[in-house]
Amino acid sequence: MLNPKDKIDLNKLPSHVAIIMDGNGRWAKTKGKPRVFGHKSGVTSVREVTEVAAELGIQYLTLYAFSTENWSRPTLEVSALMTLLVETVKRELSSLNKNNIKLQAIGDLSKLPEKTRKTLLEGIAQTNENTRMTLILALNYSSRWEIVEASKKIAQQVIKGNLLIENINEEVFSDNLTTKDIPDPELMIRTSGEHRISNYLLWQAAYSELYFTSVLWPDFRKDHFYEAILDFQGRERRFGKTSEQLGLTKSNP
Ligand code: IPE
Ligand code: IPE
Ligand code: MG
Repeated sequence: MLNPKDKIDLNKLPSHVAIIMDGNGRWAKTKGKPRVFGHKSGVTSVREVTEVAAELGIQYLTLYAFSTENWSRPTLEVSALMTLLVETVKRELSSLNKNNIKLQAIGDLSKLPEKTRKTLLEGIAQTNENTRMTLILALNYSSRWEIVEASKKIAQQVIKGNLLIENINEEVFSDNLTTKDIPDPELMIRTSGEHRISNYLLWQAAYSELYFTSVLWPDFRKDHFYEAILDFQGRERRFGKTSEQLGLTKSNP
């Protein structure tokens, strides 16, 4: 029997996969451990998914690591997450370079603790030349924040006389988001059984295929990722058209 990986059509891969890595706390709880243990264990899943995405030939992988709303968690959990981030970026840097993976970040990085921000920016600078895949960490990220910021930037351009209101369109708007130059995610995965977007890539996910799994993030392994890709490949993406029109396009290009 074919394993999930062998069933994947490499010519029909999403170019960008976005993941909401959820369920670390609940995973730890089932083991009678503190929530932070779940976050630490989740790093293994990050490593596996990054490796497998690069191996398959996916070009962009965006991971939701910390939302703006996550500041409301207990102080100890927040600081543990920030420390974990610094340690992980430092530890994984050589393997990112070995695998030719470029690190990038989206979100309001100015509000991160200095040490976290510095390590992150160093990681980004040191992997800048890599070309195989871009790993984007969404950190202190909020989609509504991003949309408001884009609106302010566009308003500034209008005030300065560099942009006419009638020339504001979807492309201009996209170019003012933190994901400028990154294609929209074709596939968005959320683990842990929650069926919500939690302020993630709201503009960019307008036509994303959503995939929800009850697997908790620290249990998420390569095969789960393959399953998500396979599910994506079985879907018909209509973009407002009818099935018949899509059939027509295929046979009569
Ligand atoms: C996701 O796991 C990690 C972050 C949000 C940082 P959670 O910490 O949200 O885990 P649950 O949802 O409470 O189980
Ligand atoms: C979303 O998870 C944010 C990240 C995965 C970083 P949450 O666990 O914070 O989301 P909600 O609050 O349950 O929607
Ligand atoms: Mg959660």
